[in-house]
Amino acid sequence: MSSILVTGAGGQIGSELTPALRQRHGHDAVIASGPEEVDDPAPPFEVLDVTDADHLESVVDTFEVDAIYHLAAILSAKGEQDPQLTYEVNVNGLYNVLEVARRHELAQVIVPSTIAVFGPDTPDHPGEKTILRPTTMYGISKVFLELLASYYHRRFDLDVRGVRYPGILSHKTRPGGGTTDYAVEVFYEAIESGSYTYFVREDTQLPMMYMQDAITAMLDLAEADESDLRYRCEYNVSALEFTPRELTAAIREHIPDFQASYEPDDRQEIADSWPNTIDDTAAREDWGWSPDYDLEEMVEDMILNLRQKLDTSA
Ligand code: SER
Repeated sequence: MSSILVTGAGGQIGSELTPALRQRHGHDAVIASGPEEVDDPAPPFEVLDVTDADHLESVVDTFEVDAIYHLAAILSAKGEQDPQLTYEVNVNGLYNVLEVARRHELAQVIVPSTIAVFGPDTPDHPGEKTILRPTTMYGISKVFLELLASYYHRRFDLDVRGVRYPGILSHKTRPGGGTTDYAVEVFYEAIESGSYTYFVREDTQLPMMYMQDAITAMLDLAEADESDLRYRCEYNVSALEFTPRELTAAIREHIPDFQASYEPDDRQEIADSWPNTIDDTAAREDWGWSPDYDLEEMVEDMILNLRQKLDTSA
């Protein structure tokens, strides 16, 4: 029986994508993997470092892998702390995945790109064809990803697809090392301590998305008719845009005493290099992208679920 391999399965997206894939394709048909053993996702789980091409190949052989959801990556802020590791994981890891997919003639590779492919020279509300001059190692690695995905499709007819995710908000697994992490951290702090210090200015507007919509985007794009697709991994997907000031106001609807303060650090420069909004017309036209959650619905669902998880009714 062929199977689907998920790399980075213990991460923010992987921990929610893996159960969604298991629901669609059957539990044992989805092999979770990551750099270390985790309890969730449940087995089948393989400890796998994507920079180890031989081990990756043996996992593909052993489990008769036919598709890979390649989520393992170092995000923007952590990437600036360790650019060398980011290159290793994001560039060499991606190459290993595409090569094993080519050699084993896998049916599909799904790999996310990001709004971090944009840079300070990007015009407002960019589409797929706009200038990309990112300033972070993470962004540079993801531009490489987009180009390499198109190359493997054109040269080797490999079906590689992906979307440019904005910042993703979720209550299950915390993001690690991203610039948009404040939009998740604030919920934990608002519930647990009643106050939060954002590491960006209050007027920093960035594109964001709730996890349910992020999962839908990936699954819908994976299942879209290939002849409808104009792009491989360049699809912009937009859902929400808000500033910390607006997020704070929305949280105060549920936690009226919540106090916010602002102490911008190095991550402000990264946030400032990304666009405030992105144009996702192509995703809407080509494969029917349409998000479900607006700011109020997202905030309500986050607080409901985090209160249960953190076991507080405060
Ligand atoms: N959430 C990511 C980051 O902040 C953007 O893709 O790095």
